[in-house]
Amino acid sequence: MAKAVGGLPGFRDFYPDEFAARAFIQQAWRDVARRFGFVEYDGPPLEPLELYTKKSGDEIVGQLYNFTDKGEREVALRPEMTPTFARMVGARANAMRKPIRWFSIPQLFRYERQQKGRLREHFQLNVDIVGEPDATADAELLAVAIECMRAFGLTSEDVVARVSDKRLLAALLTVLGFEADTHVEVMQVIDKLDRQPKDVSREKLQRIGAGGTAVDTVMSLPESGIDLFEKFLRGKGRYEATLEDFKNYLALFEPLGVREFVRFDPSIVRGLAYYTGIVFELFDAKGEFRAICGGGRYDNLLGALSGTDLPALGFGMGDVVLGELLKARGKLPANAITLDYWVAYEDSAHMAEAMRVATQLRRAGHSVEYGFKPVQLGKQLDTARKAGARAVVIVKADRTLRIKDFGSGTEGPFTLPNG
Ligand code: HAM
Repeated sequence: MAKAVGGLPGFRDFYPDEFAARAFIQQAWRDVARRFGFVEYDGPPLEPLELYTKKSGDEIVGQLYNFTDKGEREVALRPEMTPTFARMVGARANAMRKPIRWFSIPQLFRYERQQKGRLREHFQLNVDIVGEPDATADAELLAVAIECMRAFGLTSEDVVARVSDKRLLAALLTVLGFEADTHVEVMQVIDKLDRQPKDVSREKLQRIGAGGTAVDTVMSLPESGIDLFEKFLRGKGRYEATLEDFKNYLALFEPLGVREFVRFDPSIVRGLAYYTGIVFELFDAKGEFRAICGGGRYDNLLGALSGTDLPALGFGMGDVVLGELLKARGKLPANAITLDYWVAYEDSAHMAEAMRVATQLRRAGHSVEYGFKPVQLGKQLDTARKAGARAVVIVKADRTLRIKDFGSGTEGPFTLPNG
């Protein structure tokens, strides 16, 4: 016997139950995005390598599935949707009504070390807005992500949205004495504060060359509130305006009905290089899983990738961590089976009659099966039950129809729709 060929590590087989979970998640995503007026688009799964090496940042570039194609082009499977989105929108933005509100559910590919919540492919809801510099758009965007959580039956007991602003953080770092050219490096340390031992983070910050107070202040960020920023940025002109802007943003979650989910967390900086302003991530409230979703403002990316300089913001929500969380909280539908009727027949000569009944029910929109080989009625009912049918329609020996409902156990005469 030939040896069976297995699948690749980090790639999923979607058996019907898993496919049902995937479809359930994607349906809820689509419903919520449409409720907020977003329209769906897609792009190619294979892109020029250069699209990612330009702006995405080292982490994602290190995880690319890339190769040289038969026409000697350097190509990569898309690891994220944002560069494709920026290119597509940039090419036609001038002719489009602003703000542009688009969503997509691409399958993405990253050559990551496989671990809990991280695979080499995942589906990711992408919701993006282009052409609106005001923070009202940032608030609306986060509301979309949170409404997705609500659509799955998750509450603020289950999920927390951590928000921050990279401009505020940069202002704080400047006031603390970090040179502008060290900010990216400092932010990388801040991004890892919750995952890296404290002394490692501290040592890295000291090496970057900041004084003791500055290092202590950065180390305290995960536990700090807006007060810290008030203290350092009040009375400092431009920085003070950014602070006010951010506070106005926070106030918008009350009318959007999601305030209880949102928490300021200045240690959220996001791994991707292109974010320029407000950023956020969604986590499970108990801290058991990795980030469910991440996004923010990237006002310079369209200009850099398409030459059309427009402000933009968006988020990506993956199906892997979300699926794990929904499973853990009992929020996934029980199984994939949705068979409305099984058609059985008493007399083995009446199979054609059963097929006619099935056809009529199917044309009326029901899901219907029947056995392909004539067997005893008792066996047919067994098979129907095992197939998960809600009811069985029986063609009696005298060709009359009866229905037996498996749920309620009731039985009675049956009339076909339109018949
Ligand atoms: P990201 O933070 O790289 O952002 O990914 C967003 C979400 O996708 C993560 O929070 C996680 O749930 C999921 N995800 C990412 N990588 C994997 C993986 N290897 N396996 C499973 N799930 C994963 C972005 O991709 C940005 N482009 C999002 C964005 C859209 N920003 C603006 N618009």
